[in-house]
Amino acid sequence: MGKAFVLGFVTAIATMTAAVCFFVMSGALPAGQDSKPSRLEKWVAKRSLEATMRREAQGLENPLQPTDDNLTAGIALYRVHCQVCHGGTEGGVSSIARGLTPNAPQLAKDGVEDDPEGVIYWKVVHGIRFTGMPAFSETLSAREMWQIALFAKHMDSLPPGARSAWLAGKAAP
Ligand code: HEC
Repeated sequence: MGKAFVLGFVTAIATMTAAVCFFVMSGALPAGQDSKPSRLEKWVAKRSLEATMRREAQGLENPLQPTDDNLTAGIALYRVHCQVCHGGTEGGVSSIARGLTPNAPQLAKDGVEDDPEGVIYWKVVHGIRFTGMPAFSETLSAREMWQIALFAKHMDSLPPGARSAWLAGKAAP
């Protein structure tokens, strides 16, 4: 490799680094929740999340059975910890959910029943970086988080007891 090539290469890297620093420090990058992400940002975030799920959520199996007791416990926990962002049985979207970018999916309409329970559980445990989705690992037990994942997975196919608790807008303790 000639000296000129190496010098050119180093200069190009230095110029690019300076340009990125200048761009970041100029304040041109949106900082608010109310600015919509670009297609590139969405593409990168989605692919990256999917790849992490393939690596880390594989083989996570729910130890709990979908009984009325477990589902009803999941409903009660969902109301306290999730409903403000992910919605209840009928349509109203909270101001908190409206103010988030990316949006918090309203799970009764746009559910996660197709996702493996391990993926739902992983997201509850760890949250989703750079979004409004919180991690619950420090506030809920593994059993509670599996109960919530169980409910999210069966939201559209609840057995009668759990279904009436969900539709009643409250869950028996
Ligand atoms: C403060 C608002 C907020 C709370 C509270 C919250 N979430 Fe979320 N959640 C979000 C947002 C925003 C996203 C979208 C993240 C994204 O687009 O990657 C999300 C994404 C998810 C997803 C992935 C949805 C999909 O379509 O793949 C699941 C599952 C989920 N949340 C479950 C829960 C559960 C269960 C709880 C309660 C234990 C909860 N969330 C609490 C904001 C919240």
